[in-house]
Amino acid sequence: MPLIDLRSDTVTRPTEAMRTAMARAEVGDDVYGEDPTVLALQDRVAALFGHEAALFTPTGSMANVLGVRALVAPGQEVLCESSAHIARAELGAHGAFSGITMRTWTGDRGQVDLPMVQRLFAPDLGPFFVRTTALSVENTHNFAGGAVLPIVDLLALRAYADEVGSRIHLDGARIWNAHVATGVPLASYGAVADVLSVCLSKGLGAPVGSLVVGPAALIEEARIWRKRMGGGMRQAGILAAAGLHALDHHVERLADDHTHARLLAEACGADPAAVDTNIVVVERADAPAFVAAAKDQGVLVSAVGPRTVRLVTHLDVSTADAEQAARTLASIA
Ligand SMILES: Cc1ncc(COP(=O)(O)O)c(C=O)c1O
Repeated sequence: MPLIDLRSDTVTRPTEAMRTAMARAEVGDDVYGEDPTVLALQDRVAALFGHEAALFTPTGSMANVLGVRALVAPGQEVLCESSAHIARAELGAHGAFSGITMRTWTGDRGQVDLPMVQRLFAPDLGPFFVRTTALSVENTHNFAGGAVLPIVDLLALRAYADEVGSRIHLDGARIWNAHVATGVPLASYGAVADVLSVCLSKGLGAPVGSLVVGPAALIEEARIWRKRMGGGMRQAGILAAAGLHALDHHVERLADDHTHARLLAEACGADPAAVDTNIVVVERADAPAFVAAAKDQGVLVSAVGPRTVRLVTHLDVSTADAEQAARTLASIA
């Protein structure tokens, strides 16, 4: 029985057409800045978000580390939501590599809580307190079940950051999902952030690759830090070609993943209206047993807490797969 893998949108395998694009990519040594396909991808992504420059990185985590450190100096802090990927799932990289501390607010479904941000924000208060130099938001929010952060809230945060002289980092690993779900242009999301990271290897289905996007001077500096961290890749155009192909063919289809996610939510007894994009979070007292029973019947889902099950739709889950998984999960639920 073929497995239907709903553990993550990172499990996709490149399509034949993507592999062909990769095989045909023109390449050069990207550490020398000579890979034409990487340069084309960087220019295209920077333009999509209305920024001056972008830098290709192997992972979203590296793009976040480079992006946050571009805004926050060692010994300073970034404020973010308590279940943000940068706080929970980057293994302390921002502290370990960049000497940055974090304080967090807890937002319902990962949302921006502006009054709480205002309470936490510490400008230069003299020699006794850590200084806040950036605010970070995640859109869509992974651990909040793919929740979209409404553009009005991001604009309000931008206005506050401008008022107090702070800067904004946006973890846009799944910004494509937010764009397709809401119709908000990518450039509008780009405009609220000083620096953002975006991933090609989640919903867009590329095997590898992310970018950090922002002003040319910060991206030039990020390029040095990427090399320092061991992320300078050589004929990386083979990977960048997958990203260019994904931008051409795999953005608008994310709407299918969102439809499939709502179908699966309903099957599991969750409210489909609460599913913004491609991630479904289901609260179940028997989460590990539910995951095991689903696996026995050919559907892979994850337990992301003792009482929380997560399902993620993606490029390799067809409508037939989603319907089959929904039937299986409904029978277990
Ligand atoms: C919101 C978010 N940001 C960043 C990342 C990091 O991406 P990577 O796994 O490529 O390091 C992830 C990975 O799932 C994510 O969900």
